Amino acid sequence: MNPPAPSGYALPPQRSTGAAPATSTLREHLAGQLRRLLDAADVTCSPARDAVRLLPGLLGPAAGRPLSAGPLSPSFVSDDHSPAELSVSFAADGAPTVRVLVEPGCGAGTAADSGRAGLRALDRMASCWDVDAEPVARVTDLFLPAAARGPFSLWCAVDLRRTGPPGVKVYLNPEAHGADRAAEVVEEALTRFGFRAAWPALTARAESWCPDRGRLLFLALDLGHWQEPRVKLYIAHQGFSVEEAEAVAGLLPGRNPRRAGDFCRTVGGGARRFDGLPLVSCLSFTRRDRERPSGHTLHVPVRDYARDDRVARDRAAAVLGAHGADVTLLDKALAAMTPRRLSDGVGLISYVSLARSTGGPPRLTVYLSPEAYAVHPPHDPSRDTAPGERG
Ligand code: TRP
Repeated sequence: MNPPAPSGYALPPQRSTGAAPATSTLREHLAGQLRRLLDAADVTCSPARDAVRLLPGLLGPAAGRPLSAGPLSPSFVSDDHSPAELSVSFAADGAPTVRVLVEPGCGAGTAADSGRAGLRALDRMASCWDVDAEPVARVTDLFLPAAARGPFSLWCAVDLRRTGPPGVKVYLNPEAHGADRAAEVVEEALTRFGFRAAWPALTARAESWCPDRGRLLFLALDLGHWQEPRVKLYIAHQGFSVEEAEAVAGLLPGRNPRRAGDFCRTVGGGARRFDGLPLVSCLSFTRRDRERPSGHTLHVPVRDYARDDRVARDRAAAVLGAHGADVTLLDKALAAMTPRRLSDGVGLISYVSLARSTGGPPRLTVYLSPEAYAVHPPHDPSRDTAPGERG
């Protein structure tokens, strides 16, 4: 039986290529991928080992279920409804980090139950790594109301580094009170965290923020061990052109937005308009600037603009190479995820992102789908041409 489609962004379901994994349960599958990915990136300190140990308990009721039984509930973390996503983040001149994103409340029942499961998982992470989760309590009424709505309640992520304690992140749903109240919820949350002036400054730039073509996807909080914790706002842009994405990138003061445009062109394979899966911008706010973003990230959903993962890999390798990052780590990371041939499916690489900030060098991140339940077959070959010009 197929679960209902989630109301997030995913490639439309297709019959799997059958290349899905042979291991028995979700927790085994993901723990294996995470262990291999950490080894590939040489992230082997004890907090990273803690993450491998903690992971099964963060996956909720789906953890011990056989993969052959299919997803317990239609998580939209990953396209095949795996309630997890892994990613590798590359700095031009620094060490990589390995990140894990999970939906602990997947399959928990109501949205409110799911929110409670998310908070319990967050507690476990917070006590393991000595993180203060208090900022979440400040906005519980906004994002975790008793009658919460929407496709998810709370996701947690951990950013694992070669040395030192990990950073923890929490993702909240701006549509918890309904899509029509998302802007109000985000404005109130920004205000509570000290960024009252940010929202009017953002919405005044109509070319960057088009309410009829944008959706407020997540409000995310950095918790614990960060040099400069951020409050992040994710916006999905329906049918944006490269130039429109560049205009959003221009909200970051003092940095050249063309970099984001060039990145978007390369990863999108020359697409001029992204009218399949949307581009996603993330604007981050820190105490360094209370009104304007201190960071901007552009996520390109490469899986909808490339025929297969070989093409997606080559584009990711091109942008990594151009930034002086370690391309061999990309190949090791892909091999850590799956033994399948890259050209046999699409969606292993879900997004490639470029993060720029006023406080440091750029970072590139490659997002990896666990492909626990399905491998999406390659697209029709015409996908390799600019999707904006597709029939
Ligand atoms: N799968 C969802 C989507 O593609 C949510 C998501 C997972 C996402 N990882 C992401 C969104 C990274 C933006 C960036 O929308």
